[in-house]
Amino acid sequence: MDVLLLEKAAVLGLFAAAMVLAIAVAKFSGKRFRLPPGPSAAPIVGNWLQVGDDLNHRKLIGMAKRFGEVFLLRMGVRNLVVVSSPELAKEVLHTQGVEFGSRSRNLVLDVFTGKGQDMVFASYGDHWRKMRRIMTVPFFTSKVVAQSRAGWEEEARLVVEELKADPAAATEGVVLWRSLQLMMYNDVFRVMFGRRFDTADDPLFREINALNVERSRLSQSFDFNYGDFIPVLRPFLRRYLHRCAKLNNRRMRIFEEHFVQQRMKALDQSGGEILCAMDHVLMAERKGEINHDNVLYIVENINIAGIEGTLWSIEWGIVELVNHPEVQSKLRHEMAAVLGPNRPPLTVPDLEHLPYLQSVVKETLRLRMAITMLVPHMNLKDAKLGGFDIPAQSKILVNAWFLANDPKRWVRADEFRPERFLEEEKDVEANGNDLRFVPFGVGRRSCPGIILALPIMAITLGRLVQNFQLLPPPGPGKDDKIDTTAKLGQFSSQILNHATIVCKPLI
Ligand code: HEM
Repeated sequence: MDVLLLEKAAVLGLFAAAMVLAIAVAKFSGKRFRLPPGPSAAPIVGNWLQVGDDLNHRKLIGMAKRFGEVFLLRMGVRNLVVVSSPELAKEVLHTQGVEFGSRSRNLVLDVFTGKGQDMVFASYGDHWRKMRRIMTVPFFTSKVVAQSRAGWEEEARLVVEELKADPAAATEGVVLWRSLQLMMYNDVFRVMFGRRFDTADDPLFREINALNVERSRLSQSFDFNYGDFIPVLRPFLRRYLHRCAKLNNRRMRIFEEHFVQQRMKALDQSGGEILCAMDHVLMAERKGEINHDNVLYIVENINIAGIEGTLWSIEWGIVELVNHPEVQSKLRHEMAAVLGPNRPPLTVPDLEHLPYLQSVVKETLRLRMAITMLVPHMNLKDAKLGGFDIPAQSKILVNAWFLANDPKRWVRADEFRPERFLEEEKDVEANGNDLRFVPFGVGRRSCPGIILALPIMAITLGRLVQNFQLLPPPGPGKDDKIDTTAKLGQFSSQILNHATIVCKPLI
């Protein structure tokens, strides 16, 4: 009995000592660090219950007004630093690009990336450098664009043909998203595997798309935050993580059995002739530079990073064109003036002669930025930013949407006005040459896919405007604009309801 009491007392004593130590450490570190401002944090949960789960870019703009260009939120054990000025964005992405060049992952992303064996979520270091180098030649060069552009033009042509063949498209309208989704998969799968899907009813297409959608949903959901923020609650996430793992296994098996193995056989038969991006990647594996899991995670990354952002941006662009018929006519005039009056199909080499079309693409990426806060960055070690100390392993969000839409920094910021990129902002490119406009990020972790995304967006929007008058659907609210309410994710913005659009052929 006495022994039991003694044990209990010892446990209680240890607990009390641990608490005292924790408070002392907290106080000590509070003195040592000059942390960015932010709301005061409660024990254990920090600011989590106060600020909630849904930290979208709009909510963070409100907080930046209160706390400043850099502020800190404590989400349980996780520190979240939000950056809302071009000067500090430059520090994070460029000047201190190495210090802030890592990625923050959570428990779910650990499952979907094999703890960073991929490229998008790899920690900054040798593995990321190697993956980025191996992926650059097969995916992200102007040679790839030159080789792939006929395929992208063909996919856009097929969308136009399908719409022309569908009487509903010219009358009550169609949900363009469905055709664009198939087009986007084909644009990317042609580059990656030299393959395409004939129809959206192809069972393999349907399965891959469903798995990709579910992968995105599970990783962008807020349902697992409690276990991510408060480690003692992690056992309660077992079922959620099990679902993620099951989905991941199925997805990887499909990539492997239906696509990667086919390229492996083709390489064996041809004696190593390289015909698509995957052949390059598999040759890197054969040279021992990466392992087979890395190969599959490259397929995983391209399936998400390569398709979603571009598709969302194209859909936003179309909706803005419908809501701004004057922009459509200006575009048509530009294309007619440059390509000739008989509407020869727009091609990628034409794009450099079409500044207004390029401005429409940029304006879409500005006002309707799809990845509103970039992919979260992270500092592996303690760092400094704007005169404050940033504790190691903080998740850093750059509010890129705010930088591109701040009324203090842009003329009539809330208007869709492509002309701005031919007038007062004529020197601003989408590649981050001006830190107010970084839809693809800038610096080491910036989007390498920009070289593909810009021509794909321009060709798709251009061909649609060349062939159709894009209109809102008929009905009681006939003159109404298309609803542009956005669905905001953890760091993304897409249209809430896929729009029905009338595509009236131009004769
Ligand atoms: C309009 C379309 C696209 C947008 C708006 C977009 C945007 C972005 C952004 C904001 C980042 C993060 C930058 C940062 O954290 O600093 C990123 C990263 C990335 N994107 Fe894109 N992207 C698009 C299309 C593509 C395409 C077509 C591909 C590939 C085919 C691609 C592949 C990647 C990869 C691999 C990364 C990770 C880079 C790294 O961590 O080193 N993206 N993208």
